[in-house]
Amino acid sequence: MDRHIILIGFMGAGKSTVGRKLSRKLSRKLLDTDAMIEERAGMTIGEIFADRGEASFRQTETEVLQELAAMKFPAVISTGGGMPLKEENRRALKTMGMVVYLKVKPETVLQRLAGDTTRPLLQGEDKSGKVKSLLTQRDPVYREAAHITVETDGKKPEVIAAEILDRLKDSH
Ligand code: S3P
Repeated sequence: MDRHIILIGFMGAGKSTVGRKLSRKLSRKLLDTDAMIEERAGMTIGEIFADRGEASFRQTETEVLQELAAMKFPAVISTGGGMPLKEENRRALKTMGMVVYLKVKPETVLQRLAGDTTRPLLQGEDKSGKVKSLLTQRDPVYREAAHITVETDGKKPEVIAAEILDRLKDSH
């Protein structure tokens, strides 16, 4: 396993938490595309969406991915939930390493993100409707982008991390 391990999936799927576990287990650096974007802009994601719009955020997201693609040492990469939406990004992700889709049910997302104010796409009325319709649209996209899919509902982050390592061993 000398390539990046890249976590994709919906908001609240546990990409950052599981990424942290994997990076500790493997003694690898954890790179988080949302954190890189915020650092670069000196603004939170909410502020970027409000001040510059989603298209500008998506542009920076692709730029960050291209920089990560040029990196040589193998890391664990946790991505924002919208990263695989662009075909260009999906292509880059697949060439960079093993892409792992952390699959999650809408009920789990709603539970985990109750009271969250940091995700602009889930603010306002009818959060449940938004989560359900976005997940329905995106699930096939995530599947297409990934090498493996791991179900995460009801599992602890340690268990998910161990399952990923097991599955990646098998796929070599
Ligand atoms: C987004 C997911 C967020 C963040 C932005 C947009 C999305 O990341 O990139 O709010 O389109 O799904 P997380 O998946 O880490 O919440």
